[in-house]
Amino acid sequence: MNELNKIEESIVEQLNKADTEDSIEKIRVFALGKKGKITEIMRSLSDMNIDKRKSFGKEINTLKLKISKLINDKRLLIKNINLEKKLKSDFLDLTLPVNLESNGTIHPVSQVIQEVSLIFGEMGFDIAEGPDIEDDWHNFTALNIPPEHPARQMHDTFYLQKENEIESKTSEVLRTHTSPVQVRTMMKSKPPINIIVPGRTYRSDSDQTHTPMFHQVEGLVIDEKSHMGHLKGCLVEFVKKFFNKEKINYRFRPSYFPFTEPSAEMDIGCIREGNKIVLDGDQDWLEILGCGMVNPVVLENCGVDSKKYQGFAFGMGIDRIAMLKYGMPDLRSFFDSDLRWLKHFGFTQFDFPPNSRKDSF
Ligand code: PHE
Repeated sequence: MNELNKIEESIVEQLNKADTEDSIEKIRVFALGKKGKITEIMRSLSDMNIDKRKSFGKEINTLKLKISKLINDKRLLIKNINLEKKLKSDFLDLTLPVNLESNGTIHPVSQVIQEVSLIFGEMGFDIAEGPDIEDDWHNFTALNIPPEHPARQMHDTFYLQKENEIESKTSEVLRTHTSPVQVRTMMKSKPPINIIVPGRTYRSDSDQTHTPMFHQVEGLVIDEKSHMGHLKGCLVEFVKKFFNKEKINYRFRPSYFPFTEPSAEMDIGCIREGNKIVLDGDQDWLEILGCGMVNPVVLENCGVDSKKYQGFAFGMGIDRIAMLKYGMPDLRSFFDSDLRWLKHFGFTQFDFPPNSRKDSF
């Protein structure tokens, strides 16, 4: 038996005994590693004369290929055996009863974002997102609010301090509304556009119905024919579905936003009982959103041809509609992290689909 046969026999024998991936790796190193048997022999080829080198070289190459294949086959076999074993032992009992006593609850804001997304999703809207830290241009300038415009003051902006204030040309802000995502979306995708943008927004303001961090959902529709009637229809349909009522008292008031023309605000009829606001009647009104037809100036700023395309936008206060739907009196307590409040107003993962609510307080 020549040397190559001996090596082959010894490797095959080792492989037959091996039953772990580690032992296979050891055999691979023994045979084909840098100092492996076969590698060593290949190295010795250079000392042989040309004729011997030719015939022996061929033999050793064939052996190398054969051994590599044997090692790979065995490795795969062991892998499959291990996977089989794991699948047999990893057993998940889906019939176990669910633990309803778990302490965590879903925050009303998260629940309402899910509800809102589901309703607009059914109407054909996609969800878009943008950064909480925005630059001046996306938050204001592109939306037709130039640097000296009084609407900038109305926004109670949180400006971020730049390391080198003088050198930096654009300042950064915590976004004061979700409208900059309109700009980002129009700049990167072509109409038709149908998006909603649920997210966090920030303004320096705090009282019963204002917190420095709050939530909005933006809506944007851009195509060739959408008009104010579509905007109204879409929002009325939304509030009916969201509040789960066929008849809702609402009104649209003319308003002003630099990025829409014409602009309006939508109010919902409510009754204030003490400090609680309840959805009913038309004695009192709660403003829930701003809206309008996208100003052609904004379309052009975002590279959309305003002669061909038009559309509408709205920005709704998520926390406001949550207060109204679930009777929570003070917005500030939303973000106090008081466990008693969270247990009382929070939802379980089973309070879904929307319009259901746990009633065991
Ligand atoms: N961005 C406005 C705000 O925060 C709301 C709005 C959005 C108004 C879109 C019109 C169109 O007050």
